[in-house]
Amino acid sequence: MIQHPAYSVEPWCLRETELHLDVLAQSESLFALSNGHIGWRGNLDEGEPHYLPGSYLNGVYESHPLPHVEAGYGYPEAGQTVINVTNAKVIRLLVDDQPFDVRYGEVFAHERLLDFRAGLLHRQVEWVSQGGRGVRVRSTRLVSLVQRAVAAISYEVEPLDAALRVVVQSELLANEALPPASGDPRVSAVLEAPLRSEEHARRDAGNVLVHRTAASGLRVAAAMDHVVEGPSSLHVSSESFPDLGRVTFTAALEPGERLHFVKFVAYGWSAVRSEPAVRDQVDAALTSARLTGWEGLVDEQHAYLDDFWGRADVEVDGDAEVQQAVRFALFHILQAGARAEGRAIAAKGLTGTGYDGHAFWDTETYVLPVLTYTVPAAAAHALRWRHDTLPIARERARKLGFVGAVFPWRTITGPECSGYWPAGTAAFHVGADVADAVVRYVNATGDETFERGVGLELLAQTARLWRSLGHYDAQGKFRIDGVTGPDEYSAVADNNIYTNLMAQHNLRSAADCAGRHPDQARQLGIDEEEMAAWRSAAGAIVIPYDDSLDVHPQAEGFTSHEVWDFAATSAEQYPLLLHFPYFDLYRKQVIKQADLVLAMYLRGEAFTDEQKARNFAYYEGLTVRDSSLSACIQAVMAAEVGHLGLAHDYLAETALIDLDDLERNTRDGLHVASLAGTWIALVAGLAGMRERHGALSFAPRLPQGISRLDIGLSVQSRRLRVEVTSDNTTYRLVDGEPLQILHYGEPASVSSGTPLVRPTRRTPPSAPPTQPLGREPLRRGAAK
Ligand code: BGC
Repeated sequence: MIQHPAYSVEPWCLRETELHLDVLAQSESLFALSNGHIGWRGNLDEGEPHYLPGSYLNGVYESHPLPHVEAGYGYPEAGQTVINVTNAKVIRLLVDDQPFDVRYGEVFAHERLLDFRAGLLHRQVEWVSQGGRGVRVRSTRLVSLVQRAVAAISYEVEPLDAALRVVVQSELLANEALPPASGDPRVSAVLEAPLRSEEHARRDAGNVLVHRTAASGLRVAAAMDHVVEGPSSLHVSSESFPDLGRVTFTAALEPGERLHFVKFVAYGWSAVRSEPAVRDQVDAALTSARLTGWEGLVDEQHAYLDDFWGRADVEVDGDAEVQQAVRFALFHILQAGARAEGRAIAAKGLTGTGYDGHAFWDTETYVLPVLTYTVPAAAAHALRWRHDTLPIARERARKLGFVGAVFPWRTITGPECSGYWPAGTAAFHVGADVADAVVRYVNATGDETFERGVGLELLAQTARLWRSLGHYDAQGKFRIDGVTGPDEYSAVADNNIYTNLMAQHNLRSAADCAGRHPDQARQLGIDEEEMAAWRSAAGAIVIPYDDSLDVHPQAEGFTSHEVWDFAATSAEQYPLLLHFPYFDLYRKQVIKQADLVLAMYLRGEAFTDEQKARNFAYYEGLTVRDSSLSACIQAVMAAEVGHLGLAHDYLAETALIDLDDLERNTRDGLHVASLAGTWIALVAGLAGMRERHGALSFAPRLPQGISRLDIGLSVQSRRLRVEVTSDNTTYRLVDGEPLQILHYGEPASVSSGTPLVRPTRRTPPSAPPTQPLGREPLRRGAAK
């Protein structure tokens, strides 16, 4: 979509130089603002036209029955769907007697700019009504990263040439009409008018609306206030209705005069607090916002982002699109997680209703690696959210007949919301993914308090699940049968290698952690016998191997399945899940997304270099990348086994997933895991970073098209920068005590003030493996 002429490639912003309604839906997601608590889609100020009006509060959902055509034991009965809460973005404008609407009259100039450094969305438009009246409108929006309940808009209108009369209606709008549901399973269920009014009130230049959801019983309040400047003719009035709060500004504007106001908005919600308490909460947040003032909010935002970019920026020389995309990605990851605080980070963040607003394993396996090394406190919050849901996960395990905890495949607040058990409940690997994220966070930060409390309990309850889910066979091998790995085109298979290797890591990490914290372990009922049982299950876990092909099968028997007929599959039949029955996909060799290849990245020490190269080539020939979670992992392993051009291709694919709308569903929200994958492809792929027993190791390698990479990481409360060129790799410790690292396996120590310079190895060129017919990534490595 950036290939759309309206979008320019710039290092620190996303700029749209003209308004094109054919990409309005996508732009609403790309220009979304969020702080992890509030999410505002990039809808036009005047509300229409729109694809999906969207205002979200993290954790605000409606529950609904999950219908099953044929019921079965253990099927979840209720679902959760994110709802569109009160829209406080709407600012309608009447120019003389005509509504400002870009579908009528003429737009002479229209620019929107999302500034990653400032955390602001700017818009400037010049429009002439059908009646020939011209106005210039400038607006700037922010969702505060500092005051998490607060958002604000600065809005200004002025005549282009002749005098005119303007009426501006600034609104709080609840229960907006939404577009009808689509047949795509990746889109959300549509809930009409989910909010019931409880209170509405008007103030001088403001309003408050309080609503409650009918079934989930959540109370949601939104309040607004304005500070306005305008000519002496300015008149201000306000009205309130159950679903509408409106402040109206009327003014006659001479050329050179303008009407300008700042709209301060506060949101709050609660499952337990009373109606007056939630109303007072938003009033308080609004007072704080007003006191801070517009300039103050902008300054706070800037300072917050200066600190973030100071620690986390990634510089990429040689590929300007990837440079822009990685900052776009980091900005949106930050927005998704910065202030989630005790709530989930959803697959779409708070940018749209795709996947019903659910969080998946995407959080722990894709998003948390980024946050762990850039904003570790946000990673800890996300893991605390998982920990808070442990009672539900333990109950789910009990219900299914297991011990320990079964985390849901998809959820908003903890219960399993997937009605399709082969790719939902059976995807037990999510528990090991949570455990892996705990280990990564603890190793990266040394946060012992977290480890002793939240960390140990998460590790122990997930380890307990593996002990009860697996069993020893007659040969004394520990098997985990009938589970689904990451690849959703296979299901309910025996000894999925990804699952088994991650479970092994989970079991060992739980035993190690319990050993480090014996008192806390005892409180959780962990004794020596249980720790020994975890270790022996880990030691005996089955890792199948296909001796005839000399590769690892993704799961037992996989490599004997019929290979999918790629030659007979047309480009229009992808994604396959929309055109073929799962029954057929499950019994053939066709891979939706990295599974064994992901295992080779996350558990690299379990494979030899030769096995990695052979496995990678084998799975390349079967992987269709119908999931946006795949390309980044393929980039990482392509780089590791020496196909740097291919790694660059996959890096670009993951990076441009939304900017180029590669999956054609950016309109429903951003692909947050794939955006995180941009960082993963650069950091784990090109810089070759891995965690090894608490130390970071690097094995840098640059493709021809990228001449320099410079990555900022937060490690053990220190800031490290790793700069890679084709000749040298320079490690710079910005602050703190010396840090031990590994450079191609060689231990080295980096001290602050003394850069450590080591040669970057050359990778000999080798012929890359092939992909299924028609599923090759767009070539970038060779071309650039
Ligand atoms: C992928 C899952 C992922 C989900 C949400 C699916 O298409 O196969 O692995 O968790 O999308 O992003």
